[in-house]
Amino acid sequence: MDKIALPKPFRHHYHHHHRFFTLFLLLTVSTVVPNPVESQTQLPSDVVSLLKFKLKADTNNKLLYNLNERFNYCQWQGVKCVQGRLVRFVLQSCTLSRIFADNTLARLDQLRVLSLRNNSLTGPIPDLSTLTNLKALFFDHNTFAGTFLVSLVSIHRLQSLDLARNNHSDSLPVQLSNLDRFNNLYLEWNRFTGSLPPLNQTTLQVLNVSGNNLTGPITAFLSRFNASAFLLNPNLCVSYQNPPPAANDPLLGCLSPNFIWGVFILRWWRELQRWWCCVVGAAVMVVVAVGW
Ligand SMILES: *[C@@H]1O[C@H](CO)[C@@H](O)[C@H](O)[C@H]1NC(C)=O
Ligand SMILES: *[C@@H]1O[C@H](CO)[C@@H](O)[C@H](O)[C@H]1NC(C)=O
Ligand SMILES: *[C@@H]1O[C@H](CO)[C@@H](O)[C@H](O)[C@H]1NC(C)=O
Ligand SMILES: *[C@@H]1O[C@H](CO)[C@@H](O)[C@H](O)[C@H]1NC(C)=O
Ligand SMILES: *[C@@H]1O[C@H](CO)[C@@H](O)[C@H](O)[C@H]1NC(C)=O
Ligand SMILES: *[C@@H]1O[C@H](CO)[C@@H](O)[C@H](O)[C@H]1NC(C)=O
Repeated sequence: MDKIALPKPFRHHYHHHHRFFTLFLLLTVSTVVPNPVESQTQLPSDVVSLLKFKLKADTNNKLLYNLNERFNYCQWQGVKCVQGRLVRFVLQSCTLSRIFADNTLARLDQLRVLSLRNNSLTGPIPDLSTLTNLKALFFDHNTFAGTFLVSLVSIHRLQSLDLARNNHSDSLPVQLSNLDRFNNLYLEWNRFTGSLPPLNQTTLQVLNVSGNNLTGPITAFLSRFNASAFLLNPNLCVSYQNPPPAANDPLLGCLSPNFIWGVFILRWWRELQRWWCCVVGAAVMVVVAVGW
């Protein structure tokens, strides 16, 4: 112990105040913030995730995430914690402008809500399947591109997903219909192709796939949604057969939803099909009655 070079005042009182001094040392050490470059592993993992995210997404340096001596990351912009872990991360309209890098926010495994709405993020959305507690994801109004992220459909608590106004292409995964708490899905103004997934969750309240390049029939289940949810997909059509026919052929019972009234007519047609026996029966009775 003697070899430790203590400042003079401490040396003088060391033996008399041994306990006090030890406590003092412990407190000092535990409140000193480690140099982030030298020992990043000593920072809470949520802090490391945020800093890594900022490095690639915030090239304009708008986020003031400083590791000064008394930093409290739970008060950083966009962050909300419960018991020191991030449960919400919401950065809307923050002019974030590059990429959402792999292995950054994907480690915030207590997140319930993640919103990067209305920034200028580009490139693919990374794998987020580790965010198993997530309920709501808002990535709309960016220029995220590439395929629909299949890893999203493994987050079984997911209720809201907003990918509207991005640059996604490729098709929608059929596994979307496995999300049994799904409540709203916004996909408008991308470049999605292929057919609509066979969504049939009774939890689904809001849907919008307008302004894509989807093809094939809208199932009877989905046609209960407002026709404006399907606009501007030239090759999507409303089917009045249940199950719908495979091919996009008007003769097989498919009509473009751009013809909005068609949806209402088809609903009537379906009703008529349901009641045709009664209609025919009534007609026969009338004829018989009149003829009699
Ligand atoms: C997006 O953010 C810009 C400012 O960066 C704002 O002017 C605009 O109203 C926002 N749009 C939406 C849809 O939130
Ligand atoms: C969208 O993607 C296409 C093709 O992948 C590309 O040419 C276009 O520049 C992208 N648009 C934006 C706004 O990034
Ligand atoms: C949805 O469709 C699947 C098969 O595609 C079926 O197993 C499931 O029972 C359906 N769910 C509802 C709520 O109709
Ligand atoms: C839509 O998809 C078809 C092929 O399925 C393609 O020929 C067409 O160029 C696409 N349109 C747009 C606007 O991307
Ligand atoms: C469908 O949605 C549009 C715009 O969102 C709205 O103006 C219209 O009233 C809705 N129609 C029905 C039948 O709900
Ligand atoms: C779907 O989005 C389109 C395009 O933004 C909009 O015109 C339409 O009203 C929306 N419909 C619903 C039901 O949200």
